[in-house]
Amino acid sequence: MAPSFDDGNSLFNFVVRDGNGVKGMVDSGLSTVPQAYMQPPIERIDKDRARKHGHPPIDLSKLGGPEHDEVAKQIVRAAESLGFFQVVNHGVPVDLLESLKDTAHDFFSLPAEKKAVYRDDVSPTPLVKYGTSFVPQKEKALEWKDYISMQYTNDAEALQHWPEEIRDVSLEYLRTSMSMVRKLLQVLLENLGVKPEDSMIDVLVDKKMVNMNYYPTCPNPDLTVGVGRHSDMGTLTILLQDGIGGLYVKIEDDSEFGKKGEWVEIPPVPSALVINVGDMVQVLSNGKYKSAEHRVRTTNTKSRVSIPIFTMPNATAKIAPLPEVVEKDGNTLYKEF
Ligand code: OGA
Ligand code: NI
Repeated sequence: MAPSFDDGNSLFNFVVRDGNGVKGMVDSGLSTVPQAYMQPPIERIDKDRARKHGHPPIDLSKLGGPEHDEVAKQIVRAAESLGFFQVVNHGVPVDLLESLKDTAHDFFSLPAEKKAVYRDDVSPTPLVKYGTSFVPQKEKALEWKDYISMQYTNDAEALQHWPEEIRDVSLEYLRTSMSMVRKLLQVLLENLGVKPEDSMIDVLVDKKMVNMNYYPTCPNPDLTVGVGRHSDMGTLTILLQDGIGGLYVKIEDDSEFGKKGEWVEIPPVPSALVINVGDMVQVLSNGKYKSAEHRVRTTNTKSRVSIPIFTMPNATAKIAPLPEVVEKDGNTLYKEF
């Protein structure tokens, strides 16, 4: 039976405590979103005003070949301007991408009890967390999204602790993505005048996490967001999105992509992956590479899934603008932390 979602307690109990998520709320047949999910006007997304980012995806199979320099330049240019780009021939098998999206839909279609096992406060493992936006103490509208997050430590622990329904495809996705991530970092760092040792890259991508995001259909897409504006804290993010669309990036500086402050949509491209620069790379590059704000809209037609891999430096690593860059720039924009 559909409960009342009007008061915070019953909303919390249904969505969070019982593991139904936003998806459960939608499945119960609600026709307008609860107040708690309504964004203030300034955070709402005017989808008719955003342009599409029309650049073709970058072909990574050309790295290391005769066109290496040209492709490296495309990567650098994208990281310096928008902070987002799409890649094809990335080494992650295309049928794996399809399985990942199907598996994400299957996982979120499981009965609530099955998912609720991994709720933050009861999860049998600190590596896995199932959740949904719910921070009632913050005076912030909630996001129209459910997710499961799997931290990677090593294969054995992943095999033991990640939910078995999504474990194998997620591990394979991570495994096949990492050599691409290393190559991209190599290119980005070389452009800054650094010849990165493998050990340096190891440190920068030491922590890894695979998430599955589920954005249910929404009766009031104009009032809600799937994810509100944020930048990713880590090193590089790899994102698989499905064909629904709705990922918007804020332009950090006037450039070929548009004017500072405008939002552009990263359109779905079959078999491509989206790459974005995280805060750590922005700091390392002394602000040259952009960790851009981005957000996701909701739709009333179809549920959307996305599957990001977040890479982050080792927790003890000291992150500061690279000396090679500071020397060239003559100043440093960020303190070491
Ligand atoms: C994220 C994110 C975008 C998307 O999970 O950090 O920005 O398209 N996701 O789901
Ligand atoms: Ni993000």
